[in-house]
Amino acid sequence: MKKKFIYSAIIAGMSLFGCQSNNGTVNSGWKSYSQDPVIEHKVDSLLSLMTLEEKIGQMAQFSGHTNLTGPATGDDFREYVDKGLVGSIFNVFSVDALRKIQEYAVEKSRLNIPVLFAADVIHGYKTTFPIPLAESCSWDLELMEQSARTAAIEATADGINWNFAPMVDIARDPRWGRVMEGAGEDPYLGSLVASARVKGFQGISSYKDLAKTNTLIACAKHFAAYGAAEAGRDYNTVDISDHRLRETYFPPFEAAIDAGVASFMTAFNEIAGVPCTGSKYLYTDVLRDEWDFRGMVVTDYTAIEEMIDHGSAKDLKEAGMQSVNAGIDMDMKSMAFTKHLEELVKEGKVAESTIDRAAARILEMKFMLGLFEDPFKYFNEERAKEMVGNPAHLDQALEVTQRSIVLLKNKDQVLPVNPQNKKRVALIGPMVKERNSLNGEWAIRGDRNESITLYEGLMDRYAKSSVSFSYAKGCGLDEEDDMKGLNEAMRVATSSDVIVLALGEDYNWSGEAACRTNLKLPKPQLRLMKALKKTNKPIVLVLFNGRPLDLSWEDENVDAIVEAWYPGTMAGLAVADVLSGAYNPSAKLTLTFPRNIGQIPIYYNHKNTGRPYIDGSGADYLSSYRDVPNSPLYPFGYGLSYTNFEYKSLKLSATSLNEDGKIEVTAEVENTGHYAGEEIVQLYIQDVSASVTRPVKELKGFEKIHLEMGESQIVNFTIDRSTIEFLGLNKQSIVEPGKFRLWIGSHSADEVLSAEFELIME
Ligand code: NOJ
Repeated sequence: MKKKFIYSAIIAGMSLFGCQSNNGTVNSGWKSYSQDPVIEHKVDSLLSLMTLEEKIGQMAQFSGHTNLTGPATGDDFREYVDKGLVGSIFNVFSVDALRKIQEYAVEKSRLNIPVLFAADVIHGYKTTFPIPLAESCSWDLELMEQSARTAAIEATADGINWNFAPMVDIARDPRWGRVMEGAGEDPYLGSLVASARVKGFQGISSYKDLAKTNTLIACAKHFAAYGAAEAGRDYNTVDISDHRLRETYFPPFEAAIDAGVASFMTAFNEIAGVPCTGSKYLYTDVLRDEWDFRGMVVTDYTAIEEMIDHGSAKDLKEAGMQSVNAGIDMDMKSMAFTKHLEELVKEGKVAESTIDRAAARILEMKFMLGLFEDPFKYFNEERAKEMVGNPAHLDQALEVTQRSIVLLKNKDQVLPVNPQNKKRVALIGPMVKERNSLNGEWAIRGDRNESITLYEGLMDRYAKSSVSFSYAKGCGLDEEDDMKGLNEAMRVATSSDVIVLALGEDYNWSGEAACRTNLKLPKPQLRLMKALKKTNKPIVLVLFNGRPLDLSWEDENVDAIVEAWYPGTMAGLAVADVLSGAYNPSAKLTLTFPRNIGQIPIYYNHKNTGRPYIDGSGADYLSSYRDVPNSPLYPFGYGLSYTNFEYKSLKLSATSLNEDGKIEVTAEVENTGHYAGEEIVQLYIQDVSASVTRPVKELKGFEKIHLEMGESQIVNFTIDRSTIEFLGLNKQSIVEPGKFRLWIGSHSADEVLSAEFELIME
């Protein structure tokens, strides 16, 4: 009772008449995220009651002991919670467990300040959606916003109010295991996806959305250029120009801010000799001063401590100092702030106003969420039971999964598999009955036992069909060859009309710290596939994996390739819908598939070089390889449908524009095949000459259209300043007069429809 009284007295005191500061200052000059004077006033009032130790306590984030992504430091947060020295805890799950922690925080600590509960809700909470890379291949922003929304609904029902997502890192290197967690290689599309996901997690209207019990704080991570790790090795060094940082890696972060993202996470890597977690350039000059970001910044896991190994700090104290002075608000797991900040302030190495500012940003989040009014607002067992894994979410997951599956090859329309000519299907491969890998690596609360296997999906979808299936595993995912398995697979294959071969990567092969230097399928699987090829039966290859693979052999030798990624809970049903034709595939790649590992990094929006090579020209001393063409195996934006789309009648309303002008561009797309289907129509532009060289082409617009058989539609794009501006050497967006090329097509290498226009400036 006594505690409760103190707690409400503080709230009342803060909201009614503020409080006197214990050091005479009320507002330390922090800029509030909400810009709501009432909230600002509450934060300042509370700050003025806090000791330095308590303010520093807000800047500490502790971890529970599930889902560790780094060393378990054995910290017992309970002791700190009781003393009011914890800002946030992550990796603790269930309403009951979180309620207990919150009770300690608001009942035992002196100022009764509630704790933020965080988690990595990357692609669904219990209902597991396809991995983010897969989802991005839908190019369906509304769908991605909705799946983030559903993830937030489930996670908040389980007590979580801060999500370490979305990861908005641009990635061009499929060796890097975390390509699975982002939206691919393109800054334009990546920015739109970042925005959609932030809105899905946080709500879209204003900071007031955060007070709802079914929204949570999103976190744009990892700032910056984590995806540019040398050699595609996780946590590795990055050294890139400021121009490339700003043009390629920053845009999705800026888009996340525009969408209202309330938190940022640092990146593990260094850039040009400075670990991001201690980079004043990134966290003060760019994030705060240039972009005016007002939310809170948390480090990545033990990233402050890792600055010692980076070699930028001699000990934890120095690392903590660099980090807080760079502008970081919260320390995930390093204990650097907890152990050393007070001393650093006393020594004059960190200004107390810096601490006030960081604590204010964190407290503001708690006020915006409404935790001071009701620290237990998220904890409702009934709601948890109803919403976590709600069956209605499965229908949504099925749709998202169908829309994420990319058809890479379909020779002679071997797909879909229907009873007319493919009555006997040999269902072969270690992924046919694999359940464990289907959710991918980051399925936070997704029950791996609940995911539907390909086998189950096919049995369900073909239950009433005359198509029959015979199954053989053939080999393990990556175990030594088992000849028995191979013989059985050959037997099953020989008496079939078509082979459906399901292969892929174990889920541990993608994700954090899961990099590869060989992008081929694992050896036993290759051996199985090559043996099956000898039967001369058509082969439909279905892949479950988390990154672009080297599919050069497969592209030449199998008849169809279906990239299903890690599809999540509804895996088998969604893939079966694609194989049967119940769903006509519509997804397109957001990350280039190389011909082999030596081409990496390979991405569609590269520069031209001074000696550009045209594939097939045979000329020498040009930028090319002796052994493979420059072109990728499957380009960005590529993906097939069971129907055909013909692109024609490109028209421009004018062939020149001035700075304030615009050109309307139209093209007609006709469904000339035998299925209704969806097509993602893409617009690419090249600025032919500029004061900073421009990529050979850049995605500048797209539209997803549905066409019935025989139907056609005019697709319209507008070209104006926003489509042709670029980052000048002065770090401003500029336009320059001259020639531009444009293409409208079905992928980034489709050049059937092209035109030129000119920007004229007085
Ligand atoms: C490390 C990862 O890099 C980051 O993305 C994640 O949010 C944290 N671990 C917490 O799990």
